[in-house]
This record gives sequence, structure tokens and C-alpha cells, in this order.
Amino acid sequence: MVDTGEAVRIDRAGPLRGTLTPPPDKSISHRAAIIAAMGEGDSRLEGYLDAADTRSTLAAVAALGAEVTERGATGTPGGIDVGVRGIGLRGPAASVGATGGAGVAIDVGNAGTLLRLLPGWLAGQEAGRWVLDGDESIRRRPVDRIVEPLSYMGARLSARDDHLPPLTVDGSLLVGIEYRLPVASAQVKSSILLAGLLAHGRTSVVEPTPTRDHTERMLRAAGAEVSSEPVETTVALRGELPARRWTVEPADRIAGGELAIPADFSSAAFWLVAGILVPGSEVRLDGVGINPTRIGLLGVLNRMGAAIEVIETAAAGGEPRATIVARHGPLEATRVGRGEVPLAIDELPLVALVGCFAEGDTVVSGAGELRHKESDRIATVAAGLGALGAEIEATDDGLVVRGSGGLRGGAIDAAGDHRLAMLGAIAGLASREGAEVRGFDAAGVSYPGFADDLRSLSRR
Ligand code: S3P
Repeated sequence: MVDTGEAVRIDRAGPLRGTLTPPPDKSISHRAAIIAAMGEGDSRLEGYLDAADTRSTLAAVAALGAEVTERGATGTPGGIDVGVRGIGLRGPAASVGATGGAGVAIDVGNAGTLLRLLPGWLAGQEAGRWVLDGDESIRRRPVDRIVEPLSYMGARLSARDDHLPPLTVDGSLLVGIEYRLPVASAQVKSSILLAGLLAHGRTSVVEPTPTRDHTERMLRAAGAEVSSEPVETTVALRGELPARRWTVEPADRIAGGELAIPADFSSAAFWLVAGILVPGSEVRLDGVGINPTRIGLLGVLNRMGAAIEVIETAAAGGEPRATIVARHGPLEATRVGRGEVPLAIDELPLVALVGCFAEGDTVVSGAGELRHKESDRIATVAAGLGALGAEIEATDDGLVVRGSGGLRGGAIDAAGDHRLAMLGAIAGLASREGAEVRGFDAAGVSYPGFADDLRSLSRR
């Protein structure tokens, strides 16, 4: 691997061998900081992700009045131990004392999860104004998906052109609603559930297919009343997982506590795929979170015939963990449809990459949400892998990849998207001629130690 500042060159790799613990979970880290700030008393977050995105969340809760202390290095690679002294569910307005004017500026950086979750909490404050804004990419991320349901609850939110950041939140009294998500989104579900804690009456969210449930697990652990039930729909009759209704009761307080954060399955996924694609490889990943709402990629790779072993270890912090071993082997094409998409949403670019090495056509559909990520991932994955020699086509709501026995290599642009940067690196390792990844630095948004981990697996 050669770093020339702007671009990084990754050559075709020999067998990748070794064991590593990927960095802590990004989704869980964001939620842990926000929920700890909403709580009473002291919380301790062990193995909090030390990356740009989750640093934005620590800064945001500190700006709201929570006392954040870093407790130095942790046993978890890529993590820090963080102490948060919560300000309580109704703490933000009192602590900032803002009742209008320009409002308190919250810089969310590149973090879409922070942009969608935090307004759920702020919307229910009886006084106060906050303005959430971030980088160039965040300014293209839609917020109308939270503005609509939160407004039904009585929230006062306003966005640029009614759908883009900056997003201004004026705290107000909320009432509970039942809301059916038009598109399965864990971020929107979480935002509504956080608002529900502060509302009058109970709040329910129906998700058309299951999405990650970290918020619900953490709120329960903090003493909130959160329940769920399946909702039978025609989707369920087609054999997909049924829709779910999540309900939260209003609360006066939630408790702080201790949380040990597992390694991020979405970061582990890059090494799983590298292990599968690079001949002779065997990669072992320790301490990886295997919450069932996150590991759709394992089912997809299993259908493709990949040699993956999952050895479940103890659950910690309400989240199951495992050691996962990936070995190189032959692959067949598969189809990924709507019901599976939320369970593998951030790994779909990797499915496209694996498809290049599989026998037959790999088709991803029902994944229009990919267009609203850190980049338009349907367009950037098609362009990026296409530039490396893939036979890949973008559709309205997905991708079609013709297996061509591998990838030639070349140059790929990360498009300011951390997952594209890492996708390009893994593609380079498995390609015939290697890859130059332009804008590789974007990887630091979720995985600052990616290049070091790459070196450790390539060392022979
Ligand atoms: C996330 C949920 C997903 C995912 C994102 C993180 C979360 O987004 O793509 O990277 O932490 O809730 P949506 O659920 O909104 O699709």
C-alpha cells in the first residue's frame, strides 16, 4: 500500500492471514453517547468508536451540556473509554438557556445518524432552538423523513428547501402518534422513538421490514418501556420477515449505565470479503457484533457459497458477539431483494464487489435508499467498480453485476464516502492490477485504523 497524500495505491495481495478486532460499532457508539446524555447520572462507554463521525456526536452532546470525559486508551482497538454525565431527558433547554434567536449551532460533520437521531430528542424540549448543519455531503442528505413524523407529533422543525440541512429545531410539546415508515429506516425509527419518550401518550412506529434495533435495546437497558410486536402483512406472506410495530411509553427519566460496545460488523465486512476474494486467505475477526438486524450480509454470502464460520461468544451490553472466520473459495451469483436490504444496507457495495468474482449475474433490487447515503451509492459503486473493469449496471433501485471471474483494477474515486474508499481498497487487493483509491482519507469517518489493519493482514 502506497500513500501519495491524495490517493492510495493498493496492489494485488498475496494470501491475507491473521486475526484482528475491527473498530467499535459506529451505530451503537452514536446512540450510546446520545442516550447517555439523555440519562440521569454517570454513564461509562467502554470501547467507544474513535472516528470522525462519532467524535461529532460527543461534541454535540457536550454542546448540549453533557459532561464528556475521555478515559484514555481501552483494550478495544480503535476505541476509547468515554464517561458521560447525563443532563436528563429535559436537560438541554435548561442547560443552554436558549429560547430563540439564532439558536445553538450543532455541527454534525459527516454523520447522518447524528443528524437524524438528535432532533428526536431536541424536538420535545419545552424551550430552545438548535440548528444542525454539517459538511458538504451532509447538506445533500434528506431530513424530510424525520421532519414529517416529528411534525405530526407537534414538533417545530424547518429545513432548507423543506428537505435538506441546515435543520432548525424549536423545542415544543409533543403528542404520541402511530407512524408507518414509508421506507425502512433505523434512523427515522430511532428519531421518533426518542421523541416518544418526551411526548404525551404512547408513540408507535411500524417498520415495513426489520431494521437495526440498537436504540430499542439501549432504551430498554436504560429503563424505558419499549415493546414490539409483529404486524402481519402481505410481505410476511411472501416469506419475508414481518413488519414490526415498536412502541415507547413517555418517561420522566432514563438511567445512565455502563455499556461495552462490540466491534462493528459493517467494518468487519470489508475483511470478510477480502478473505473470501483473495486466493489462499484466512481472516479471523474477533469481538464482532452479530445483532441479527445487522448481519444480512452473512446470509447473502452463504447463498453465494462463501466459506464463513461464525463462532458465537458471550453477549455484552445487550448485543451478541462472535468470532467470524472467512476463507477463500468459489462463489455463485445471488439476488438480494427489498426484505433483505435493511439488514445489509451498508454492505451492499461489497455484495456488488463479490458479484464480480461470482459465477452468474448478481442482482440487488429494492435498495433505492442507497442513493441517500454518504454518496449516491448506486451511482458511485457502479462508476467505481466499473472503472476497475466490472461489468456493472446501475438500476433505479439497485445494481446488476455480471460475474467476470475477477477484476482488472485501475483507479477508483471514493467520492467523499468512507465506505467507497474501503471498497476500493478491498477491490484493489483482489484485482489483477491493483487499484489507486482517490480520496482514500474518507475512510477515517468510520475506520481510521483501516490502513494499519490492512498491513497487518498482508504481512507474511
Ligand atoms: C444507520 C442506519 C442506516 C445505515 C447508516 C446507519 C443507523 O441508515 O445506512 O449507515 O445507525 O441507524 P437508515 O436506517 O436510515 O437506512
